[in-house]
This record gives sequence, structure tokens and C-alpha cells, in this order.
Amino acid sequence: MTAILPHGGKLINRIAEGREREELLHTASLIKQIRINSWTVSDLDLIGSGAFSPLEGFMNEADYRCVVNSMRLADGTVWSLPVTLSVDEKTARGLNVGEQVALTGAEDGIIYAILTVESVFETDQGDEARKVFKTDDPEHPGVKKLFERSPICVGGSIKIMNRPKPERFGEFYFDPAAIRELFHRKGWKTVVGFQTRNPVHRAHEYIQKSAMEIVDGLFLNPLVGETKSDDVPADVRMKSYLVLLKNYYPEDRTFLGVFPAAMRYAGPREAIFHAIVRKNYGCTHFIVGRDHAGVGDYYGTYEAQEIFSGFKPEELGITPLFFEHSFFCKKCGNMASSKTCPHPKEEHLTLSGTKVRGLLRDGQCPPPEFTRPEVAEVLIAGMRAQVTP
Ligand code: ADX
Repeated sequence: MTAILPHGGKLINRIAEGREREELLHTASLIKQIRINSWTVSDLDLIGSGAFSPLEGFMNEADYRCVVNSMRLADGTVWSLPVTLSVDEKTARGLNVGEQVALTGAEDGIIYAILTVESVFETDQGDEARKVFKTDDPEHPGVKKLFERSPICVGGSIKIMNRPKPERFGEFYFDPAAIRELFHRKGWKTVVGFQTRNPVHRAHEYIQKSAMEIVDGLFLNPLVGETKSDDVPADVRMKSYLVLLKNYYPEDRTFLGVFPAAMRYAGPREAIFHAIVRKNYGCTHFIVGRDHAGVGDYYGTYEAQEIFSGFKPEELGITPLFFEHSFFCKKCGNMASSKTCPHPKEEHLTLSGTKVRGLLRDGQCPPPEFTRPEVAEVLIAGMRAQVTP
């Protein structure tokens, strides 16, 4: 096995099987039901599979308050983002501590899990937003999502009886236990995890490959859960990753698997969360570049790196690898950052996301120094398919 331990010391498994599953399904048919949306279903499954170890359920009040105020669970373990289950006021009023409730899909009616109620509590969403997202601006996509939910939460441990089936790219879904086993079989002792919600451009490739120079393998782990509507859709991105890996990466040193979580856009706090989760998948290192998990101008370029200094290395367990803003320098004739390139800005090729999206929408490839042509082709085709269904 990879030497790195899961966060909290052991990999959580809250998935019921066999007889236990049958019994829980029977119990579920007799008890109150809470309907959960697809975002919560995705959190539920990540808790169940151990990706969110040491969480065994949705946060109770004590954990929630500690996480919001001090980025730790009540027992002191580092944890940076709330993972909560919102319920409406009427449902909350009918719940008692110690009671079991069934969690069913709001869209599909599937009975996913049973939760044992530990606490029912009201949150101050404005306070949570300011502490977690560093803003209460309702235009911020993460804050917007938060404000759309009920402020009342129910916390407690869960047991899953039915897991959500991946709608797409099922062959790239792996549980943390399977990924750990796979790294072991490959003989990788050190693995760098890479989070992305974007296509992999040359700057991403550069920082991944810089990291690959010092570790045994790269775990390309794109987030494919809910993202905001102007991010490139996950199915298009998946095609772009495959074509990039095939043409530019050594097969025996890279592995592609999806991260089926929703994007929070919480910048610095999400960088800590992303790192911890990748540790649960067995990564020893994690890349944090410029404005990790950021959106708009809410966070400073390197805030998601600076936040790591607030924790002792052994509290996190995973080693963050920080990268400066990277770009292609025309004078150097290669990818670089201000750490390696002495030339002025005018020599650097940098394109905004808006500019790149505009080019792709018009069927034009961005310069090959910015995006590999094979990747650009996939993105252009993906954009076309979106406008002509
Ligand atoms: S996100 O998930 O962090 O929002 P994104 O795809 O934008 O996704 O970035 C993936 C990773 O690459 C992050 O760690 C980010 O900081 C880093 N990154 C993106 N662009 C650059 C760049 N030009 N230079 C350095 N790091 C970058």
C-alpha cells in the first residue's frame, strides 16, 4: 500500500452490503424520508466511499461550528469546508436526536442511505459565507448556492444502501480504496494529485510535468461534479484529457480518474479540502498553482498557497507543491514562471479565459503555446455540439 495514511488515520467505508444492506432497505421503507438533491447525493457518496475521511456523515452542530470558525472538526482534525445536509423548517421540526431517517433522491426517488440524527441546528449563512468564502456577495457562485439552501441542517452518520450510478465516463470512477490499490500495484511510492475544473492547457501541463520530475506518478483527477454554467462541460473536458494524455504523457506514469464532487469556488479553503481529499485517494503530493479554486477577483493570486502555512505539515499529511503563475515566454522559447524567466511581461503569452472561450466558440485554435492543437480541436467540437444539439 502507499505509505500515506488517510486523513484521520483510517479510510472510512459507510457502504452497506449483503444482509446489512437488505435490513437497512427494509428499515428505510418504514421511516421518515428526506429528499436530497444531486449535490447532496454526490457529497453522500464521497462520504460513503471514504473520499471525505474522516467524515462518517453530514456534519453535526459541533463539527460544523468548529469547521466554520477554525477550519477543524470538533476533535481538532483539520477540515476546511462544511459538508452539511440542509432541510426545510417543517422537516426539521419533526426530527428527533437518535432517530433514523431515509435519504432519497429528489429527482429519482431512489433510497440512497439512512442517516442517524445527531443534531438539528440553524446556521447563520451570512457568517458562514464570510468565513468560508471570504465574501457574502450573492454573485459569488459558492455563496449563491449557499443562500439558495435552507439554513437549517441535520447532522449525523450515514450508511449507504444504493450508490448513485455514474451517468457518464463510468470507467473513470474509482473509490479511494481502489485508487490506493492501483498506485500500490504500479509501484508508485509518491504520487502527485492534480485538481482541475478546466481543460488542461500548457500552463497546467507545465506544472504537472514539473511535479512529475520529482514523484513517481501523476494522478490527473478532474472534478466532474456540479460546476458553474460557463465552465467547460465535464464530458468535453474528459475527451480533451484523453487526447492530451495519449499524445503528450508517458502512459506508465499517469493515471486519469474523476473526482465526482461539486465545485465550491471557495479558493483558499477549498485548496485545503482538495488536498485532504487527494490524500484520501492515496496521493502524497498535491499541486496548488495560481488562484486555486478561485473565481473572479475574490481571492489573491497566491492566497490558496498561503493558507497552508497556518497548519503544521503533519496535520495535513499531504505535501503541497506550490507553483507560480506559469506562461509561455517567447524569448525563452519555453514554458516558465517569474521564478525561471527574466524577461518582461510583453514576452509572455497570457490569455484570459474569456478570450480563449471566444476563440474556441469561433472555431479558432488558441496558439499552440497556450493549448495543444489536439486539445483545441476537441474543445472546438465540444462547443459546436453545445450550440447545435
Ligand atoms: S481549479 O479547480 O483550481 O479551479 P483550474 O483548472 O483553474 O481549476 O486549475 C487547476 C490547477 O492549476 C490549480 O492548482 C491552479 O492553481 C493551477 N493553475 C491554473 N492555471 C495556472 C497557471 N497559469 N499557472 C500556474 N498554475 C495554474
